[in-house]
Amino acid sequence: MTSDLQQQAVDAIRQSYALLSREQNLSPGNSAVTSSLTHLVRTLTQCQAPELAKFLLSTPELAREREQLPILCGLAECEMEKFWARKLISSTACDLADFWYFPEYTELCRAEIDLFKQRSFSRISFLGSGALPLTAFLIAQHCPDTPVVCVDYDVEACELASQLGRKIGLKDRVSVERMDALKYEPVENELVICASLLQGREEIYRRLDHHDCALIVRDSEGPYQYLYKAAELPKTHFREISKTKVDPRRINTSRFFIRDLEFTGNDQAA
Ligand SMILES: C[S@@+](CC[C@H](N)C(=O)[O-])C[C@H]1O[C@@H](n2cnc3c(N)ncnc32)[C@H](O)[C@@H]1O
Repeated sequence: MTSDLQQQAVDAIRQSYALLSREQNLSPGNSAVTSSLTHLVRTLTQCQAPELAKFLLSTPELAREREQLPILCGLAECEMEKFWARKLISSTACDLADFWYFPEYTELCRAEIDLFKQRSFSRISFLGSGALPLTAFLIAQHCPDTPVVCVDYDVEACELASQLGRKIGLKDRVSVERMDALKYEPVENELVICASLLQGREEIYRRLDHHDCALIVRDSEGPYQYLYKAAELPKTHFREISKTKVDPRRINTSRFFIRDLEFTGNDQAA
């Protein structure tokens, strides 16, 4: 027998996909998009029980949504970040806590800081940082002696992130570099955080293979894979040493990798 929650989740996934694929405007300026995504996130948060999660991820009736919905959600997220960055820049108070998902980002960031708090890094970078690089700002507040770099190839996102950094008084601690993360060169002993919407990960990992850095990779597990695709992970040169737990207070999980000193090129062929 189909449970109410299962049916509710199937409906929310289908309705969000149908709406997002027909709407031109995926920004919060479109209230139908906002309410559909809010409902979808709330519903998926309740669907963490293993049996239900397994059903949602394997049912053929949602195959198209599984493939396409995260792409549309990614576009909506970029729009939402720009919308909120503009709103905060033009407000007098510029209080980051006004942002709808501030509690989730604070939780996510707190959990990530727990992963690396035993170590100290010469710099922390955030690849695919977006217009509202909350993670970078929160980390800069938490690690006042460590420079933080935001990397994004979107001109407008970089301009908004820079303006926001100035407005909240973090301009000297958080720099913004407009470039493709594929070309990013970390310094020695850097922590590189890969955002969940970062494109071109395989090539980025290949490039980082030759650097002395640690990595945090934002991943997506269980039914949250209707919001973000599961992340490709580094296969060589890095070793996962810890990860955050799936938790209803945050959407992403994060995996912490350090350089695998035992890795030899021969393992690659295995
Ligand atoms: C919505 S945003 C912000 C990140 C999001 N808050 C998260 O945690 O994933 C994703 C950003 O990644 C940027 N991006 C994606 N792939 C990139 C790449 N290879 N190089 C630089 N920026 C990239 C996009 O331009 C976009 O602004």
